[in-house]
Amino acid sequence: MRMVGGNVLLMLLAPLLVLPVGRVNGANILGMFSTFSPSHLIVHTAMMRALADRGHNVTIVTSLQLKLVPHENITHILAPLSEQYVAFINEYMENSAKEKHSMAMTFLKAIAGTSQLIDSQYEFLVHPNVRALHEQPQVKFDLMILGFVFNDYQLGVAAKLGIPAIISWVGVPFSFVDDEVGNIYDPSYVPNANVAQHKGLRAMGFGLRLRNYLGWLLLKGIGVALDIRMNNYYIRAFGKDPALPSYQDVKRRVSLLFYNYHSHSEGPVRPTVPQSIEIGGVQIKEQPDPLPKELAEFMANATEGVIFFSLGTNVKGSYFKPHIMEAIFKVFARQPLHVIWKWDDLQHKPGQAANIYYHNWLPQDDILAHPHTKLFITHAGKGGIAEAQYHGVPMLALPVFGDQPGNAEHMVSAGFGLSLDLLTLTEDGLEQGISELLHNPAYRQNVRKFSQLYRDRPLTARQSVVYWTEYVMRHNGAYHLQSPWLHMNFVARHNLDVYACLLLALAVSMFVFLLFLRFVLRQLRRLTRLKDKVKKN
Ligand SMILES: *[C@@H]1O[C@H](CO)[C@@H](O)[C@H](O)[C@H]1NC(C)=O
Repeated sequence: MRMVGGNVLLMLLAPLLVLPVGRVNGANILGMFSTFSPSHLIVHTAMMRALADRGHNVTIVTSLQLKLVPHENITHILAPLSEQYVAFINEYMENSAKEKHSMAMTFLKAIAGTSQLIDSQYEFLVHPNVRALHEQPQVKFDLMILGFVFNDYQLGVAAKLGIPAIISWVGVPFSFVDDEVGNIYDPSYVPNANVAQHKGLRAMGFGLRLRNYLGWLLLKGIGVALDIRMNNYYIRAFGKDPALPSYQDVKRRVSLLFYNYHSHSEGPVRPTVPQSIEIGGVQIKEQPDPLPKELAEFMANATEGVIFFSLGTNVKGSYFKPHIMEAIFKVFARQPLHVIWKWDDLQHKPGQAANIYYHNWLPQDDILAHPHTKLFITHAGKGGIAEAQYHGVPMLALPVFGDQPGNAEHMVSAGFGLSLDLLTLTEDGLEQGISELLHNPAYRQNVRKFSQLYRDRPLTARQSVVYWTEYVMRHNGAYHLQSPWLHMNFVARHNLDVYACLLLALAVSMFVFLLFLRFVLRQLRRLTRLKDKVKKN
């Protein structure tokens, strides 16, 4: 009888035994995304949607308006920025679009701009809708995902709720993001965003390495200054609560870093800690959705193929000089191909032509997935490039500011397309570029080959998000994955004390050796003097 009872018990328990320990079903997950860039939100919300599809109850908080396809497991909370910041951000984007970019200017702009952008992040944090989440929580959250935009002090929300935190970043990890988990960044072979990345495994030459090193040093310096600022914000927002850890301690309680990057195909490969999880391409649908009817017909009729032109969500076409838009229109109107043009102001189009379709909202991913799409003309945002690479579509880049020139150079050196300067664009230049990309098969072959590598992974980007998020919840935080580097101070991280100790030991032994030498010489001299005396006597 006892045996049978035991077996029945075992049979009842068996389904539980194969399940991983801990609660992961229908967890409450909080996503905080105070970014000022709609393209960042595309990546973040795609990640949250993967979790919602899995059955978790997802709450997304943003400072920007969000066009979300409704989902029964997603709740959106808006904590809008005040008009002052909205105006600043628009002006910042507009000015950057009008000027020519150099590396020094890009950095200086980033510093000046970041300062305001950081202020806007603080405003988001103390917005009543955000405060309510952690001051009078109606829902018991299990995990927080924080979208990185120089806003580490917002990790205080996770500390206050007593839940693990994951940081999500929308691009290739760079110095600030690497430091969140202790990825060791080696500027001798890992290019930063402002230095062209090189095709294949070719190393950087002296000039590029010098530029890369100086750029990295500058970022490190900015990082120290930013950290002081963020610490002040943390104290202002959470300082009154004695139960909360310090800003530095909160920063050391990050469970994972998600970043939108796939090193195996995008390169360069570099060492990263196990806390860094690649979710490159999470915003790309594995299966395209059907296109809106009008667009679907336009694309189906384009038997010669389609050129898709979009300068992204941050930059409006009207920011650019009218003669450039006119040149672009003339070239497009002459094409035998159809053109889909993302244009915001539908009242004032650059021109009318039967082969051009304008719209202010276009499903970029689904258009790129369409077999008729032959060419993508893009501002070289990370998201658009990733989608075109995923679907194997050659590109013509017209980079404007920020990381776009770097993205474009990288895309060109990989052989996926060409890049032109939008501010000095001419009819001839554009026409030649388009013609080269349509008639030389090399670009399409290169990007197709990449596309195959990009998709070949053990877990898709969405599966990785789900697996690793649930991993963190199963283990109540992934602190065991942390690199010891995170818990060391500057001296220990760089072994300065060990070097000092070895130097001291070397100095002491040299000193002792010198003393010994002097003693021996003295003895010798005394001996000779003695001998001389003996001889004289
Ligand atoms: C899901 O999240 C929303 C928003 O945070 C909340 O109102 C709702 O009660 C949650 N549902 C469950 C079942 O926890």
